[in-house]
Amino acid sequence: MDFKLQKYFLFPLLVLLAITLLTHCSPPVYDDQSGFVSIDCGLPENSTYSGSMFPVTYTSDEMFINTGVNARLLPKFISNYTEIYLETVRSFPQGKRNCYNLRSSKDKDSKFLIRAFFMYGNYDNKSHVPKFDLHIGTELWDTIQLDNSSHVVTKEIIHVFSTNYTNVCLVNTGNGTPFISALELRRFRNSMYPSEYEISLELKMRYNFVYGTMPLRYSFDAYDRIWEALQLPEWDSVSTRREVDRDIENDFYPPTLAMGTAATPLNSTTWTLSWGPADPNIDYHTYLYFAELVSLLPNQTRKFDVIINSETASWEEFEPEYLTTFVMSDKRKASNFNYTLRQTNNSTLPPLINALEVYAAKRFFKVHTDENDVDAIMEIKRTYDVKKNWQGDPCLPKDYTWEGLRCNYSSSNSTRIIGLDLSSSGLSGDIPSSLSNLTALQYLDLSDNDLTGPIPSSLAGFAFLRFLNLTGNKFWGSIPLGLAEKANNETLLLSMDGFVPLIKNQCQSAQCTKKKLSIPVVASVAVLLMLLIVAITIYYFTKRKGDKRVDSFDSRSQRFSYTKIVSMTNNFEKILGRGGFGLVYHGYLDNKEVAVKMLAETGYKEFQIEAELLGRVHHRNLISLVGYCYEGAYMALVYEYMANGTVKEHLNGPKSLTWIERLQVALNGAEGLDYLHNGCTPPIVHRDVKSTNILLDDNFHAKLADFGISRAFSVDESSFVSTAVVGTIGYLDPEYAHLQKLHEKSDVYSFGVVLLELITGQPPVITSKNCHITQWVGNSLTTGDVADVIDPSLDGTYDSELVEKYVRLAISCCSPSSANRPTMHYVSSRLEEYLEAATEATKGIMVYIEDSTTIPYDSNFSNKF
Ligand SMILES: *[C@@H]1O[C@H](CO)[C@@H](O)[C@H](O)[C@H]1NC(C)=O
Ligand SMILES: *[C@@H]1O[C@H](CO)[C@@H](O)[C@H](O)[C@H]1NC(C)=O
Ligand SMILES: *[C@@H]1O[C@H](CO)[C@@H](O)[C@H](O)[C@H]1NC(C)=O
Ligand SMILES: *[C@@H]1O[C@H](CO)[C@@H](O)[C@H](O)[C@H]1NC(C)=O
Ligand SMILES: *[C@@H]1O[C@H](CO)[C@@H](O)[C@H](O)[C@H]1NC(C)=O
Ligand SMILES: *[C@@H]1O[C@H](CO)[C@@H](O)[C@H](O)[C@H]1NC(C)=O
Ligand SMILES: *[C@@H]1O[C@H](CO)[C@@H](O)[C@H](O)[C@H]1NC(C)=O
Ligand SMILES: *[C@@H]1O[C@H](CO)[C@@H](O)[C@H](O)[C@H]1NC(C)=O
Ligand SMILES: *[C@@H]1O[C@H](CO)[C@@H](O)[C@H](O)[C@H]1NC(C)=O
Ligand SMILES: *[C@@H]1O[C@H](CO)[C@@H](O)[C@H](O)[C@H]1NC(C)=O
Ligand SMILES: *[C@@H]1O[C@H](CO)[C@@H](O)[C@H](O)[C@H]1NC(C)=O
Repeated sequence: MDFKLQKYFLFPLLVLLAITLLTHCSPPVYDDQSGFVSIDCGLPENSTYSGSMFPVTYTSDEMFINTGVNARLLPKFISNYTEIYLETVRSFPQGKRNCYNLRSSKDKDSKFLIRAFFMYGNYDNKSHVPKFDLHIGTELWDTIQLDNSSHVVTKEIIHVFSTNYTNVCLVNTGNGTPFISALELRRFRNSMYPSEYEISLELKMRYNFVYGTMPLRYSFDAYDRIWEALQLPEWDSVSTRREVDRDIENDFYPPTLAMGTAATPLNSTTWTLSWGPADPNIDYHTYLYFAELVSLLPNQTRKFDVIINSETASWEEFEPEYLTTFVMSDKRKASNFNYTLRQTNNSTLPPLINALEVYAAKRFFKVHTDENDVDAIMEIKRTYDVKKNWQGDPCLPKDYTWEGLRCNYSSSNSTRIIGLDLSSSGLSGDIPSSLSNLTALQYLDLSDNDLTGPIPSSLAGFAFLRFLNLTGNKFWGSIPLGLAEKANNETLLLSMDGFVPLIKNQCQSAQCTKKKLSIPVVASVAVLLMLLIVAITIYYFTKRKGDKRVDSFDSRSQRFSYTKIVSMTNNFEKILGRGGFGLVYHGYLDNKEVAVKMLAETGYKEFQIEAELLGRVHHRNLISLVGYCYEGAYMALVYEYMANGTVKEHLNGPKSLTWIERLQVALNGAEGLDYLHNGCTPPIVHRDVKSTNILLDDNFHAKLADFGISRAFSVDESSFVSTAVVGTIGYLDPEYAHLQKLHEKSDVYSFGVVLLELITGQPPVITSKNCHITQWVGNSLTTGDVADVIDPSLDGTYDSELVEKYVRLAISCCSPSSANRPTMHYVSSRLEEYLEAATEATKGIMVYIEDSTTIPYDSNFSNKF
């Protein structure tokens, strides 16, 4: 703008003038700066102050930006008249684009005046005045070009925010380091300066025609527009002491003080103001402010034509109203502008004008990334304190897309974030839930961070997610069902430590089928038929052969996918118990109840072989293995469900088992163990026989649980010493513990302890008596007080002779030397006899039992447990 006008800066005079004006006109003082954001860039954190000549409160920019460095202008560029906000700057030596994030939940579709100040003042001591670009949101606002170190550039625009947040960005264009001195936002009423939604108004000039040179702003102007004072020698002035627009609202809310003075031509009937050159491709919006300030006598008139660029505008014979603002707006394109006010023939007074504003229209397409995506990614940025070039709009403009982001630009009104790569970004903590608000996400890489916590099930909620890399983190818990399902369906490529999608094999076979089908496309019908017959024959043979082989495996162990396990247990909803190897969950398989044991241990390569092996072991007194899961780190065993829980739970309390029921349980257990020892080749040593490993079904039929797991996990015999979980304290064969030599007789020892538990209702280690159950019961045998050790809840409903035989059998099982222990076969035969006798006894029939059990009790035996 080349204005051939001159300003007079006479500071002391100004102050005087301001004071006089204040006292004369008593303008309204607006204390409310609620619609203001006044940032003094480069001010130290948390500082605030009030402007020297106007009461605007400036704050530090720390809250609005987290990049850049603070600097101060060289002292020689700071005078007594330099505004404080110009004294410091924030400069941006790092990064191509740096943005102030101005966000407020109420800002969407609000009209704002945005004003930025720039003064170089050789703050970096390089005496190189930079040139750079200024952006609003994703679009260029202007290029900042300073003439010299003391040149102050002010950029001002009236802009409607299209989002709840807005960024003002400084963009390095390779012509020096961008910087900024101050940034101001003033909320306007949306009715002010009407224009199309996409049109923003860039300030060209805003003049208050008055004597003196005082620029008017807050608090004279409630909206803090800066009205420059303009006075030319060929102008006369008119002013009033009365208040303009006292009871009238005007859409432009001009300051009363600016309207209270006006310019009129001196010795002339026309008033002309010209400026140029202007860009002929741009619409210029002109606002001319008029108010009559003179109380006219009856024989006085003030009428004039308003002419812009030689055309007679629609305002012929315009007669301003007394103390009431009228704003004429004009919009046109031109390369230069002449505003002429021409007194009409029979008007007695010359024309008058109070104020003038000119704006250049600038189109902003207001393109931006989807707001929910922005909210979500901003939340992620905040949570993880991401220190990348994450500035301004995440996706736009394309050249400035945030590092690690991929966006979809195909829909012009909705740019979406579709990819997020935060691998190796040093992230820690949980996966934030805000991530799931990036609903268009297709690609997510969080690998090689320190993320912990459960994997949120919301990750499965991404409708379009096709790639997810979670490797190299420390997550715990299970993979959410939906996620595993997608991975197995191959709709998602899931990369995670220990996760092996099941689909791999299925996919291969599917491909094979496809290839076969695609070969004989051009073959004749006859050939096709031939092939078909051959194929059917081959298929038939293979099928039959295969069937046989499959038969021999099929009923034994079924392999489940991890997904299946998750769905079986309804995402591990109900815990049945805690075993030595992991948690046991309740589940359903084809509407039948099952118990799913998740094995916490990892790295047992033989697991699958063992699981297959266990699947072949079927006995009515052994819990059936329905199937297993072996998928990477996931190992699970699926068993039939035992409704009545463990035997241990039924030894005390009102629901405790009867003597006959206990005998029945003992017999079932013994038969189960006998089968493991003698019915299987190679024999299976249970290793962990205990009352919590004998479970009861809904008919109180007892079955042994957990057999063979120990074996499955003991591939490396040398590491056995440290494997404390194998065997349970109180049940552990002392000989085995001592010699570490595994034998079926170790199970016999443990079973003996269980037998003692069954009859006494006491745990293997009786803490109250500080002794082992074998010692306690053994002593009772020597002293002949067996009745004292019998579970009182049996309430004498037993034959004491039979009980004594049972106790001797149990004690013999617990012989310190394995050689002295009976075999399980022997034990089960004896128990069968006792049960028969006890049952018959209830019917009044006596059964003679040959007492063949020696008492191997050794009084010197001291149990170390
Ligand atoms: C600024 O204020 C915040 C909150 O009151 C405080 O946590 C921070 O330490 C302050 N910073 C400085 C530099 O005083
Ligand atoms: C600036 O202010 C200081 C102290 O208020 C005064 O001593 C000095 O003369 C002033 N300088 C000018 C150029 O007015
Ligand atoms: C903007 O903020 C307002 C107020 O909080 C809210 O109602 C509106 O939904 C937000 N708009 C968007 C697009 O987030
Ligand atoms: C205006 O007219 C008066 C008298 O006609 C004359 O004294 C004065 O110099 C003129 N001023 C200008 C600026 O032409
Ligand atoms: C208008 O009237 C006033 C008195 O009412 C008189 O003094 C003045 O000269 C008149 N002016 C004109 C231009 O007639
Ligand atoms: C404005 O006035 C100047 C000088 O009178 C003239 O040269 C120019 O053409 C005028 N501009 C327009 C657009 O009328
Ligand atoms: C002013 O002059 C115009 C002609 O130039 C005339 O039509 C009009 O009536 C006059 N108005 C007054 C108030 O004399
Ligand atoms: C994009 O704009 C078109 C037409 O202007 C509209 O139909 C569509 O709903 C818009 N899409 C979004 C996501 O705003
Ligand atoms: C996700 O977006 C919804 C609205 O779209 C919002 O209510 C919710 O707070 C957002 N969640 C997070 C974690 O940002
Ligand atoms: C996942 O990330 C890890 C570590 O960055 C990398 O080694 C692996 O190749 C990635 N997986 C896929 C499928 O790209
Ligand atoms: C996976 O595939 C199964 C069967 O093909 C289907 O029922 C299920 O809905 C799919 N799941 C997902 C998440 O695509």
